[in-house]
Amino acid sequence: MTQDDMKKAAALAALEYVGSGGVIGVGTGSTANHFVDALATIKGRIDGAVASSQATAERLKKCGIPVIDLNAAGGLKLYVDGADEATRHLHLLKGGGGALTREKIVAAASETFVCVADESKLVDVLGRFPLPVEVIPMARSYVAREIVKMGGEPVLRQGFTTDNGNVILDVHNLKILNPVELERMLNQITGTVTNGLFANRPADVLILGTGTGVRTLK
Ligand code: A5P
Repeated sequence: MTQDDMKKAAALAALEYVGSGGVIGVGTGSTANHFVDALATIKGRIDGAVASSQATAERLKKCGIPVIDLNAAGGLKLYVDGADEATRHLHLLKGGGGALTREKIVAAASETFVCVADESKLVDVLGRFPLPVEVIPMARSYVAREIVKMGGEPVLRQGFTTDNGNVILDVHNLKILNPVELERMLNQITGTVTNGLFANRPADVLILGTGTGVRTLK
């Protein structure tokens, strides 16, 4: 079974969390794309979806699923998204695709956050994957210096602008032993929009695709 098969299996398993009626939130990335494709098969059951990126909005539209603005949708029952790393405590590191801010907004507005991933994403300690931090462009150097003081090695993501018109610093060499605290500390740096730690609002359910089927952590 390939890694992509495992992503697909996890995405399919998330369909069971989709109720009847209402609007659901959909994340970004290859696993979230599998979820959009699966959702298309039951699209008659929902009123539409809020997308966490332009890319996901396009895919939803192509599948014939109405894309709803979050401000019009109100609170969401469900958000389904992938992750770059996840722990058994359901703390996540996200933003490899650069959509972290909108992902965090949709997750915050949702009652239940179901994270879908292949088993390679499960780690004991977050931080081997560089932690993305979205920054207002004029604050880029200042925020980078502050992150260096905290022990991180920020690298500007070259040639990349977020859907919000900002830049991303990918922070290397962080061993994230306390993700709740680090998420808060990074958010305190003026000029930072969001960081890719989802610890203060972790996932509620983690569905992992494995070589022998799906495994669910709650
Ligand atoms: C997007 O910004 C990320 O948070 C994604 O959730 C993450 O990169 C997962 O991507 P894959 O599903 O492609 O592994």
